[in-house]
Amino acid sequence: MRDRRKRNVVSWSALFWCTFFLLLLSYLLFTSSRFFSPDTFHPELVHTLPTPLNKALSDDSSLHFRSSLQETVTLPDQALVFLNHPQTVRPFAKEDINCLYFPANSSVPHSWRPPIDVDGEEHLRKQMVRCPLPPPGFTVSIRVRSNAQLQGGHSHRWDLLVYEALVDRDNSTVVFVKGLGLRPERVSNASKFECVYGWDFRKIKYVLRSNVMSIAQEIARCTTPRSVLSNPNRTHDSVKVSIRVKGGGTLNSIARPLLSPGLRTPDRKPHEMCICTMLRNQAQFLKEWVIYHAHIGVRRWFVYDNNSDDDIEDVIASIFSVKHNISRHIWPWIKTQEAGFAHCALRARDSCKWVGFIDVDEFFYLPSGLSLLDVLRNQAKNVSVGEIRVSCHSFGPSGLTQMPPQGVTVGYTCRKATAERHKSIVNPEVLNSTLINVVHHFHLRDGFHYMNLERSEMVINHYKYQVWEVFKEKFYRRVATYVADWQEDQNAGSKDRAPGLGTKAVEPEDWSSRFCEVNDTGLRDVVLQNLTNRRTHLLPWQEEHRRGRRRSRKKKGKHKG
Ligand SMILES: *[C@@H]1O[C@H](CO)[C@@H](O)[C@H](O)[C@H]1NC(C)=O
Ligand SMILES: *[C@@H]1O[C@H](CO)[C@@H](O)[C@H](O)[C@H]1NC(C)=O
Ligand SMILES: *[C@@H]1O[C@H](CO)[C@@H](O)[C@H](O)[C@H]1NC(C)=O
Ligand SMILES: *[C@@H]1O[C@H](CO)[C@@H](O)[C@H](O)[C@H]1NC(C)=O
Ligand SMILES: *[C@@H]1O[C@H](CO)[C@@H](O)[C@H](O)[C@H]1NC(C)=O
Ligand SMILES: *[C@@H]1O[C@H](CO)[C@@H](O)[C@H](O)[C@H]1NC(C)=O
Ligand SMILES: *[C@@H]1O[C@H](CO)[C@@H](O)[C@H](O)[C@H]1NC(C)=O
Ligand SMILES: *[C@@H]1O[C@H](CO)[C@@H](O)[C@H](O)[C@H]1NC(C)=O
Ligand SMILES: *[C@@H]1O[C@H](CO)[C@@H](O)[C@H](O)[C@H]1NC(C)=O
Ligand SMILES: *[C@@H]1O[C@H](CO)[C@@H](O)[C@H](O)[C@H]1NC(C)=O
Repeated sequence: MRDRRKRNVVSWSALFWCTFFLLLLSYLLFTSSRFFSPDTFHPELVHTLPTPLNKALSDDSSLHFRSSLQETVTLPDQALVFLNHPQTVRPFAKEDINCLYFPANSSVPHSWRPPIDVDGEEHLRKQMVRCPLPPPGFTVSIRVRSNAQLQGGHSHRWDLLVYEALVDRDNSTVVFVKGLGLRPERVSNASKFECVYGWDFRKIKYVLRSNVMSIAQEIARCTTPRSVLSNPNRTHDSVKVSIRVKGGGTLNSIARPLLSPGLRTPDRKPHEMCICTMLRNQAQFLKEWVIYHAHIGVRRWFVYDNNSDDDIEDVIASIFSVKHNISRHIWPWIKTQEAGFAHCALRARDSCKWVGFIDVDEFFYLPSGLSLLDVLRNQAKNVSVGEIRVSCHSFGPSGLTQMPPQGVTVGYTCRKATAERHKSIVNPEVLNSTLINVVHHFHLRDGFHYMNLERSEMVINHYKYQVWEVFKEKFYRRVATYVADWQEDQNAGSKDRAPGLGTKAVEPEDWSSRFCEVNDTGLRDVVLQNLTNRRTHLLPWQEEHRRGRRRSRKKKGKHKG
């Protein structure tokens, strides 16, 4: 099985070049210790390391594992173990799995713990086990109940990794890379890099090489080798892709180039307006945000979930309907906002004419009374408009001290006077192939421009400084030591911080009256007038909230019982 697949991919010329390269490399090893230009980065030189062939991997009795165990990526606060499922294996439940901890160089586990969570995207037959962080010097692996111990997954650092890849319409592979340290917002020199395809990048003779078409920020575009394209099954245990620095090392990779089911050009796009968002532990705000935006014409929501541990899956299940077509996508990667947006734009491209990139505390508001779709159609009359920029109004706590029961759009009505930066709505067909985006703006193809919308036509109400109980969560995330919050755009800098708060998360006495310069009840009035249930006098998210809660409690009980 495996051998056949390899033959599929490795051509004779590739083998020749690999051998040649191997010789060259060993020569270089002896003559130089500097493989990397010092101003770029220092990845591990994976294919020159000894390859201790793992027992589990060569043992036929563990065939099952070979196909289901994948690699481990250690994040600062947890370890992720990725599993791929053969078509025949059902997804594992949390109860099926233990996280095992191994001392260095030992194949005997020292201890085990239950996983934090098991997560997955069923259609990709991919599962992810979240394990508590291993102690320093230990590695983590998992054991599936009723099966032998699963060892042999490679352990990777999250900040030096090729973590995601997909095959685009033109058959190029879009590769998401962490750790190259390339300059922001610039096209880098593609000829300094190379794409490699294979199963194990430490075994140089089994990799296929191809050229990098473009590389910028943290995304590379590779020419996909024909043999990879013709591999009929691109999901389970398919070939991986990585990036090599010419004259340097190959990055570790867990990325298998998927041909997303949605990457075909449909005759007609089903949705005029979609939204991509990235969030963490904000499930409680989703209902109002989705129902309101459905009311103004949004038809599809893509939620990139960055390691939430609230009830987001239950909440999404309770919102989901024909009218509220919302899906959750696992995106555990750190400091990857731009990459996540690009990934989402590609995902949305086949079904959406326009894609907005906003957070769940941001709401499009149309003071003019025009509908969102009218505004988009007006802009689209000029075919060279590829991006529409919308200003944001930042709302303060508006005198409140507790979360408003009718939701943020009704509760918060006082804001700062000046608008802060823009968010954008883009036509995903006209993105520049580099997929560069900075502070919510994409680079477009030559010949396309952006338009700034007048605030009187459309604006974003950003409920940025909510009651302290809510704001402090955001604040804690922001002062986390290991990395800045993704929502805190590097380029927006200090504007995004709450002025005068320093680093102590203690409620200032006058918090509830801060950031209040202008009373703005426009959106509140529209919401109350158009969305209140005449009989119950409740807003849809208030009713839904109750029903949803009951359902989610019932579901939970079933799981545990
Ligand atoms: C593990 O093995 C490698 C080589 O086999 C050795 O260099 C390393 O020091 C060992 N580590 C420990 C903690 O024993
Ligand atoms: C992409 O590859 C497939 C399979 O090799 C081929 O049928 C198709 O024509 C290619 N498309 C483009 C745009 O090159
Ligand atoms: C790109 O890199 C290659 C190889 O390092 C070099 O020959 C070429 O001049 C560079 N091109 C630019 C535009 O810097
Ligand atoms: C590809 O997947 C299909 C099921 O989706 C399976 O029937 C077929 O045997 C697989 N082919 C290979 C070569 O693995
Ligand atoms: C949701 O949207 C996707 C396209 O993005 C479509 O394929 C799917 O059928 C939609 N689901 C519902 C329930 O409308
Ligand atoms: C995801 O959350 C972590 C905190 O667990 C944060 O450090 C990281 O920057 C976030 N990543 C993105 C892309 O938002
Ligand atoms: C479309 O918009 C661009 C950029 O604002 C402008 O230069 C161009 O004249 C517009 N075209 C038409 C037909 O209005
Ligand atoms: C993408 O942007 C670059 C500049 O960043 C430009 O040189 C290139 O022509 C653009 N690509 C397309 C297809 O327009
Ligand atoms: C907002 O309106 C309230 C009364 O409804 C008033 O007391 C307050 O001063 C107004 N605030 C501003 C900034 O205009
Ligand atoms: C909502 O209410 C406003 C008045 O507040 C009204 O002008 C508008 O037509 C209503 N309908 C929609 C779909 O917003």
